[in-house]
Amino acid sequence: MNEIQHPIVRPRRLRTTAAMRDLVAGSTLRPNQLVLPAFVREGAAEPIPIGSMPGVVQHTRDSLRKAAVEAAEAGLRGIMLFGVPETKDATGTGATDPDGILNVAIADVVSEVGDALVVMGDLCLDEFTDHGHCGVLDAAGRVDNDATLERYAEMAVVQARAGAHMVGPSGMMDGQVAVVRDALDDAGFTDTAILAYSAKYASAFFGPFREAVDSALQGDRRTYQQDGRRDAGEGVREALLDIEEGADIVMVKPALAYLDVLRRVADAAAELGVPTAAYNISGEYAMLEAAAAHGWIDREPAILETLTSIRRAGADIILTYWATEAAGLLR
Ligand code: PBG
Repeated sequence: MNEIQHPIVRPRRLRTTAAMRDLVAGSTLRPNQLVLPAFVREGAAEPIPIGSMPGVVQHTRDSLRKAAVEAAEAGLRGIMLFGVPETKDATGTGATDPDGILNVAIADVVSEVGDALVVMGDLCLDEFTDHGHCGVLDAAGRVDNDATLERYAEMAVVQARAGAHMVGPSGMMDGQVAVVRDALDDAGFTDTAILAYSAKYASAFFGPFREAVDSALQGDRRTYQQDGRRDAGEGVREALLDIEEGADIVMVKPALAYLDVLRRVADAAAELGVPTAAYNISGEYAMLEAAAAHGWIDREPAILETLTSIRRAGADIILTYWATEAAGLLR
C-alpha cells in the first residue's frame, strides 16, 4: 500500500462556504450593467407575443412605457428601442419620420422615465425597408454603403430630437460612426452618445429577431456583417475604427458564439478607456427558453450563468431580453 500524497495546494478551500465563494467572486453581474432591448409596434392595440421568443412581445406604445418604468425600478440603466412600422418602403422613410413609430416611442419613454434610464434607439434601416436590408440599394440591388450613410445621418438627428440619450448604429456600413457623430454635432446634439455595433457577425442566431421585427429580408447580410470564419482580429479592427470615428461605447454581437472576439475587443477598448458592450441576442435567448420549457435545463441558473460568461469575457454592459428579470434575480 502506498501512502497517499496529500495535496499542498487546495483550490477547494475558496469554495467551502457561500460567504467564502461570494468573497472571492470578483467580476460579478449587477443590474446597472444590463440594458433591455424592447420592440414597439405601430398601431398595436395590445402587446403581441413573439412566438420564437417566449416572454418577449411587440409592445404597444403604452405597454412600452410600463416596461420602461419596470426596467428602471428593477435597477437597469438602459433600454434599447426597436420600432416595427406598419408600412415599409425602399428607403425606410419611417425611420426618419419624426412621427414614425421608433421616434415617437423614444419620446414616450423619455417622457416617462426621464434620465432614469439611458434611452437608446436602434439606428438601422432594416425594420423600415421593404427589402429588409440595413441600407438602401443601388441600381444593381446591392446595399449602397455611402447612400446609406446619408440616411443614417438623418436618422440620428431625428432620434436625438425625439430625446434619445444614445444612438446605436447597427447596420455595419463603413464610416457610419463618423457620419453619425458629425450629423449629431452639426445639429447641436454634442451630448448624444454613440453605442457602436462594432463587431457584428452575420449570424444564424438572429433568426428570432427577424420575427420580432416582421423583417422582410430575403437572403442574408453577408456583404456587410462580418464572416465568423475570420480571425478575431477583424473584430478588434472594427472596434478601433469606431473608436477613432467617435464611438463612446463599442459592442460585440452576437455574444455567445463570439466570446473570444469579445475578450479581445474589450481588452483593446479598455486600453483606450472605452467601455465594451455585448448583445445577448434573440437566438441565444430562444435556445435557452426552449430547453427550459422542455425541462431540459434549470432556467434561472442557466440565465445567470449565461450572463456571467459574457461579463467574464469582458463585457462592461450586456444587452439582454432577460435584463429586467435578471436584475430581480440578482437582488
Ligand atoms: C439590426 C439589428 C439586428 C439585431 C439588432 N439590430 C438584426 C440583424 O442584424 O439582422 C438582432 C438582435 C437579436 O437578434 O436579438 N437592426
